[in-house]
Amino acid sequence: MNSFVDIRHPERIYETEPLPAWTYLNAELLELEYERVILPSWQFVCHQNQVKEAGDFATLDLWRDSIIVMRGKDGTLRAFQNACRHRGSKLLDGEGTCKHRITCPYHAWSYQLDGRLAAVPSEKTFPNLDKTQLGLKELELEVFCGLVFVRVMGSGPSIAEQWGDLAKELAPYRIEEMVPAPSVEEGGVQISEEWACNWKVALDNYLDNYHVPFGHPGLHRLMDNQLSCTINGHGVSFSKSVIRERESHAWSERAYQRLAPKAFDYLPEDVRQTWVFGFMPVNIGFDVFPDSMDIFQILPKGPTKSVIRTPLFVRPDTRREAKVMQFLANRINVQIGHEDKELCERVQAGLSSYNYQPGPLSEYEMPVKDMHARIRAACPIVTQKERPMDGTLRRQNVKLLADAQPEYRNCAIAAIA
Ligand code: FES
Ligand SMILES: [Fe+2]
Repeated sequence: MNSFVDIRHPERIYETEPLPAWTYLNAELLELEYERVILPSWQFVCHQNQVKEAGDFATLDLWRDSIIVMRGKDGTLRAFQNACRHRGSKLLDGEGTCKHRITCPYHAWSYQLDGRLAAVPSEKTFPNLDKTQLGLKELELEVFCGLVFVRVMGSGPSIAEQWGDLAKELAPYRIEEMVPAPSVEEGGVQISEEWACNWKVALDNYLDNYHVPFGHPGLHRLMDNQLSCTINGHGVSFSKSVIRERESHAWSERAYQRLAPKAFDYLPEDVRQTWVFGFMPVNIGFDVFPDSMDIFQILPKGPTKSVIRTPLFVRPDTRREAKVMQFLANRINVQIGHEDKELCERVQAGLSSYNYQPGPLSEYEMPVKDMHARIRAACPIVTQKERPMDGTLRRQNVKLLADAQPEYRNCAIAAIA
């Protein structure tokens, strides 16, 4: 199979087989994917309504990297590497507010809210110190639908460019108005969980609607789920699910079906009864409901371990029916999350079987095929059926990239577009 060359012909991408089993089990490949696929892609940090005032910040821990999003005194949102310029200490954790400066917990170097180095204790002991060169490393930031994303490495299309016309599907849900749901401590929902699977197992699962009728019986009773997705040239995909007229026998699903058409009469009628499942490469799902939305972000933690981050945002509507809708949607979605975790962990268990190779993919798994093609373009070593010998993977990948078409030599995940 020479799928890497076929990538110049997008129509042929989908003829390829799924990624081989070893690619879901290999620590060296994960390092390469992190560098070539994850770091050059947009990562979700927070909602703009979490960082409204000067000094408000949120952080994202992204395996080897950590990111700060900070609102400056000038009202501008900026993103920084969460690492002190002195000896590298992580500066901030979680989210909160810095009154005036970011102060390092180690030797107390302090930074302005716009990242400039402000003060260094015992400054005279650093000969020729040029503070202007030692500000926090700034990263690329984009706000899309009120959601704040950061790109650590490389360049490429903006989020708005990647979504293109498909952004129109999200607009009527007014995500930018939403606010964070109460935290676990406040009696709210858990927004991060560890799954015992490779990040691509969770990714494939998110991109696959084929499993919905059997894998998610509650969702299938509640919704008429579109099994085939719309997908654009940047790998952004979405599908819609519409509330069924036939009522579910489960009380929470039935209550949601009855309430949905009338609960948010200020939204367009079709929006009130439609859930949208969007996806943006490389690891960001958008689960959008009339009452709330969550981001489904798949972060690697090891070759067979992932952190699934699902921050939830709700419509700022204090009416009882809005609260009931949010409660019901969350109850239904927590169950879907349990089901997906179990499905993914079972796939991971099977993938390690002796001499196992995954089988063909359905038309309903088109976004999975697309993502596999993108990963092949960035890391052509995954086109090999057999696991490379330990210690050789990176070298072999460099050789394959050198043999490839020039446009793919430095490709980030969006290169296929
Ligand atoms: S590591 Fe931050 S002040 Fe030393
Ligand atoms: Fe699922």
